[in-house]
Amino acid sequence: MKAVTWHGKRDVRVDNVPDPTIQEPTDAIVRITTTALCGSALHLYEVRGMFIEQGDILGHEPMGIVEEVGPEVTNLAPGDRVVMPFQISCGHCWMCGQGLQTQCETTQVRDQNMGAALFGYGPPDERFIYLSDVLPTSWQAVEYAGIPEGGSVTVLGLGPIGDMSSRIALHRGHRVIAVDLVPERLERTRRQGAEVLDLNEHEDLAETIREMTDGRGTDSVIDAVGMEAHGSPGAGLAQQLTGLLPDRLAQGAMQETGVDRLNAFLLAIDAVRRGGTISLSGVYGGQADPLPMLTLFDKQIQLRMGQANVKRWTEDIMPLLTGDGDPLGVEDFHTHQLPLEEAPRGYEIFQKKDDGAIKVLFKP
Ligand SMILES: NC(=O)c1ccc[n+]([C@@H]2O[C@H](COP(=O)([O-])OP(=O)(O)OC[C@H]3O[C@@H](n4cnc5c(N)ncnc54)[C@H](O)[C@@H]3O)[C@@H](O)[C@H]2O)c1
Ligand SMILES: [Zn+2]
Ligand SMILES: [Zn+2]
Repeated sequence: MKAVTWHGKRDVRVDNVPDPTIQEPTDAIVRITTTALCGSALHLYEVRGMFIEQGDILGHEPMGIVEEVGPEVTNLAPGDRVVMPFQISCGHCWMCGQGLQTQCETTQVRDQNMGAALFGYGPPDERFIYLSDVLPTSWQAVEYAGIPEGGSVTVLGLGPIGDMSSRIALHRGHRVIAVDLVPERLERTRRQGAEVLDLNEHEDLAETIREMTDGRGTDSVIDAVGMEAHGSPGAGLAQQLTGLLPDRLAQGAMQETGVDRLNAFLLAIDAVRRGGTISLSGVYGGQADPLPMLTLFDKQIQLRMGQANVKRWTEDIMPLLTGDGDPLGVEDFHTHQLPLEEAPRGYEIFQKKDDGAIKVLFKP
């Protein structure tokens, strides 16, 4: 089969790799019909893969049709149409039972990590593909933000995660102030009904947000930027440096150089009202990031974060995908749909934010 593989910094290729086989009785083989490119992949593409080897297969937002199942698989059959969560969780351990699938205590891949089989073949893949990551991540970002009824939220970063988080918050009737520095991303979220602010146009963005909210700041802030934040000149340097280091050293450097990656998070701390909540879905990697603990404590800020517990939110989200209309606008959420062969170009335009790339789908 064909696969997008990693060969080094900013070097991905489409290679022929061995076809998958059933190895565990609980395995299933799925023929992929659509897969999407994610901001998380940029950490591997640009920062330099730390836990990755030449030739490793990339991608974690797939959907498709079940081709074959192992003898112990009872809830899936060949022909089922499924979406796969980006994380592997067993579905039956204690943590999975708590809805903390990211903390799954079973390390094996089990069949239950497959999404629920979807109804029929009528609706296009675009309806469901985002169940793999964008939708549950954004849903959890909004849930964890604890926005009070009729309250306000600042969304930092308008990539797929911030854009979808804004849509969900607006759908729930919240006031959304959305921040980015890429014009087409700001425009796209503004069209959904958010008030948008260009990071480049405001000297003191948190102050602007306070002025818009009776001097308080928004009830909640969602950080959908993560460690690739702009406005952190040191971050670029740290990434370049770790890119040149051997693996073991690079790991240490990545975990300890956090200092300059915190731009968006610091903005979140500044812009949230006293007693408000910050929800982090952007990925941070540093172990030694100095945080302004005094401000966090003094403002009595609540903080929630983590990878999305994908399966926990699927049932809540499904009605918005299968019901009438398309309230979250998933059908035209993608900006590009490319054949898999063009994956290297897809990575490039997404990373450089060229050609208006916001969400890129690949079709084998
Ligand atoms: N928690 C999870 O389970 C989970 C799942 C998926 C993605 N993520 C993470 O979420 C983050 C966003 O993902 P994405 O796919 O939307 O990526 P993306 O790179 O497309 O989006 C990031 C956006 O932030 C903007 N930005 C940069 N610096 C900023 C700043 N200082 N203030 C405001 N905006 C700024 C960029 O212009 C960009 O539009 C990434 O860190 C990704 O790894 C987390
Ligand atoms: Zn993803
Ligand atoms: Zn589990």
